[in-house]
Amino acid sequence: MPIIDIRSIYHSTTGAALEDGIRASIVTGLTHSYNEKVLPGLLLYNEEGLRLFEQMTYQPDYYLTGLEIDILSKYATEIANDIPEGALLLELGAGALRKTALLLDAIEAQKKKVTYFALDLDKPELVRTLNELRGRYTHVGLAGLWGTYDDGCIWLKQFNDCPRVILWLGSSVGNMTRKEAGQFIRGFGEVLSPQDRFIIAIDTRSHSPETVRTAYNDRAGITRRFAMNALSSINDLFNAKVIDVSCFAYSPYYNEVNGRNEAYFRCLKQTQVCISSEEPILIHEGEYIRFAYSHKYDRIERQLLWSSANARAEREWTTEKENYTVTMLSWTW
Ligand SMILES: C[S@@+](CC[C@H](N)C(=O)[O-])C[C@H]1O[C@@H](n2cnc3c(N)ncnc32)[C@H](O)[C@@H]1O
Repeated sequence: MPIIDIRSIYHSTTGAALEDGIRASIVTGLTHSYNEKVLPGLLLYNEEGLRLFEQMTYQPDYYLTGLEIDILSKYATEIANDIPEGALLLELGAGALRKTALLLDAIEAQKKKVTYFALDLDKPELVRTLNELRGRYTHVGLAGLWGTYDDGCIWLKQFNDCPRVILWLGSSVGNMTRKEAGQFIRGFGEVLSPQDRFIIAIDTRSHSPETVRTAYNDRAGITRRFAMNALSSINDLFNAKVIDVSCFAYSPYYNEVNGRNEAYFRCLKQTQVCISSEEPILIHEGEYIRFAYSHKYDRIERQLLWSSANARAEREWTTEKENYTVTMLSWTW
């Protein structure tokens, strides 16, 4: 299964490796003042994190995956109708490919020659997840892209002679602030031609606060393990014990007003983060460090998102209760 390393594009344009960037964000984020400290969400997605995230998606408490599967099971053929013969299908942050396979199966059933590229951050996980689809398709070609979303956007520019469709599932857009999300989608739109499409799955605000709270703190404790793995990965990144993970607990908070889950590490016992070449960073007992957002979008917020991305919503598919959505966007600049 070909895995293309597109991180080199990133290196050649900025001279910085992804891991250098994450290390720099850790240092910057931890030097913020009391209760303003942040850690980069990218820490969540090392090999172990991706496996734990996949386990999370099997928890009934993590309702997002089930709702997305409902939409894809029901409408995969309709969505596939809008993916033309000869298209390049690029999935951002592909993760495990259980849901994607529903769409690829529908494309295969339509006997369309489409090349699917799964883009993600961890090479061994790309190999593992793509291998699970090996031999399943004769019309759909499969490949992996190892790199970031930004690398993917640069890489995509060279393919302006074939129809391109971007797929962004799992409500991953919710991890960005609303402003960042509009700018990010717009950035892809600037690369796409009028016949190209961007398919995006988004969770809504139509769930009870308790449902959201349980989704981000499931009863089997997988989300907690997923979060704590991100903290441990700091030690892996610096190749030293720079942070004492036992001094922290996972502490999610559903901010109903802003329509987002906020994920924090709460400091249980005063500690220092000791990174060589930096002054030790003091973290106080009771202090919170934010590491992830999961924004939810109501109908008006989705419309605002499309307009800030300068995009047009061509079609929208929802669950019966309209509590999860998949939207197909296009651009006419
Ligand atoms: C919320 S998970 C969703 C996974 C999968 N699409 C799903 O729906 O179950 C986010 C995925 O995006 C990837 N990801 C997050 N930030 C990324 C970035 N900046 N560049 C590339 N992939 C990223 C993660 O590794 C992870 O696979």
